[in-house]
This record gives sequence, C-alpha cells and structure tokens, in this order.
Amino acid sequence: MKRKMIIDTDCGSDDAVALLMACVDPDIEILGITTVHGNVPLELATKNTLQTLEVCGRTDIPVYPGAERAMVREPVHATNVHGQDGMGDLGLIHPVKKAEEKNAVDFLLETIRKYPNEIELVTLGPLTNIGKCIEKDRETMCLLKEITAMATCGLGPGNTTPVSEFNVYADAEACKLLIGLDVKKRFAGFDMCVGPAAWSDQDIAEIGVEGTLGGWAVAINDALIKYNLGYGLHRLDLPDAVAMACVLWPDTLLEEKEYTAYCCVDEEATYGQVILYRKDMVLAIDKEYPPYNCTVVTKFDGKRYIEHCREMLKAKAYC
Ligand code: BDR
Ligand code: CA
Repeated sequence: MKRKMIIDTDCGSDDAVALLMACVDPDIEILGITTVHGNVPLELATKNTLQTLEVCGRTDIPVYPGAERAMVREPVHATNVHGQDGMGDLGLIHPVKKAEEKNAVDFLLETIRKYPNEIELVTLGPLTNIGKCIEKDRETMCLLKEITAMATCGLGPGNTTPVSEFNVYADAEACKLLIGLDVKKRFAGFDMCVGPAAWSDQDIAEIGVEGTLGGWAVAINDALIKYNLGYGLHRLDLPDAVAMACVLWPDTLLEEKEYTAYCCVDEEATYGQVILYRKDMVLAIDKEYPPYNCTVVTKFDGKRYIEHCREMLKAKAYC
C-alpha cells in the first residue's frame, strides 16, 4: 500500500523541487497539496504549485488554497531570494490547471478524519494553515501519523534574523501551536541544506538538462542561484527539498534526536527563534525541563541526496 501524504507549501523555487520529488515517487499517494502565504503571496504560491504539477504530469493532484496571512502579524515574503514570482522571474508560470474551491483547513481536517493515523503531513512554508487547523480541531490534528516541517534553524544560525528561520519567522504563533500539539513531529532545520547538501556548479550543470525535470528545477532557481552568488555563498541550497528527502529517502537521514522545542513569540529580537534543548547539551543544570516534544534532523547525507536528485530529475518535463 502506498504511503498517504499531504504537502503544505508556500511554493517558491525550492518548494517546487520538493513537490517534484514527492509527485514522481511511486510509493507515495499525495491526497492533496495545500498552499499558504510565505515565499510569495498566497495567490502566487498556488499558481506556482499548479505549474509544478503540470511540469511533472501530475495534474490529478488537487490543490487547496489556505491562509493569506499569518495568525497575528503582517505577511512577510522572500521575493528577494526566490524572485518576484517565487520561481526565478523567467516567465515560466502560466498554469492551465485550477485550484479547488475548498479551503486548505477544511480539506486537511476532513482528510485526516477520513484516514486516522495514516497521513504523513509535510510542511514547506509558514505554519499558518496548521495553526488554524489546531485552533479549529486539535483532536483531529492528533490523528496525523506524523508531521515533518521544514522549519527552525536546526542547530545553526538564522536565515531571516540572527536567530530565526524564515518559515517560523513568517508565523511564529502558528509554529508555537504546532510545537504544543501532541503528535509525532520532526523538524528539518535550515542548517541541513547548506554545506554538502548544496548543489555545486557542476551538479547544477549536470542536473539542469533542458527538457527534463532537472532543467526546470535549475531554471526556476535562477534567482536563488544569483542571490547566493551575490553573497559569495554556496550555489544552490534547497531547504524544502532536503526536508522532503528526509521523508522519502531514508538513506539520506543519518541521524535525528529528540529535543524540547520552545518557540519565542513575545520579543522582537527573538521573534521566531526556536530554542532546542536536550539534556546532554548543558553542562550543569538543576532545573526540570518539559519532556521532549519533537525530533530534529542532526545529520543528513548531502552527497546521497544529490545522487537521488540527479536520478529522479532526469525524467522528462511535460511543459
Ligand atoms: C524556507 O523559507 C523559504 O525561503 C524556503 O522555501 C524554505 O521553506 C527556508 O528558510
Ligand atoms: Ca518553502
């Protein structure tokens, strides 16, 4: 039997690669994709998702638009990183497929009720849709099999503020709700996508063959590649693809450890920081901490992940 999955995305260029990975995986049944504000405004995130499905020939997968803005704060976007359209600004986004009328929150709750303890939820954007589901029906959300979230800095520095990662910073209140949910949850933090997991110039050239999914994946990441070049950084870091790899390709996930996570929402300087605590991290502590409430990916095989990407992205692109 195939693994049942729902993906929640603020589809920018790295989300699109993660979506391709899941869409072409023969062992995965994607019940639906929900969209959320984040990298780009909701409408664009939905359009980018629809286009990605057309490119990999999976127009059978329904797409449900969700939250336009965060639970408390004004929306923030990352168009400086992914391009104004979130997909490299190359005029590649013109989907024919339409989104469903049903809202993401209703779809998520109905579907989780229908398949209790069977659904793996993978979130690639700010956690607003998930926070809203928890507010509406916490009990149902506890019926997820597990959640993997591309969220938090992991054990590294922030990419949006010194201490915050984008998906948490864009809606820390929602992340706090997720952390408080009694369900199996894994954070694939930003620290895992840099270093050996970042595609090199050679990887980009070899994977980016025109007419293949790899050609599309490289094209839509044009703005991100240029952004990284401008800062003298690694070439192509794809946090959402790394999070998806942890779910799809067990040989890439080398280690994950239990942590007590705490999400800061009160002070401006720490807004969106997720403090991760483990007993073995602190030299001397006499305070009792709350029990572990998540796992965090601590070792990832970047080389193996790029090999997998190389293989799966050879497939033909449909448009
Ligand atoms: C996350 O923020 C977005 O820019 C990416 O799509 C990823 O989900 C990384 O912090
Ligand atoms: Ca994302």
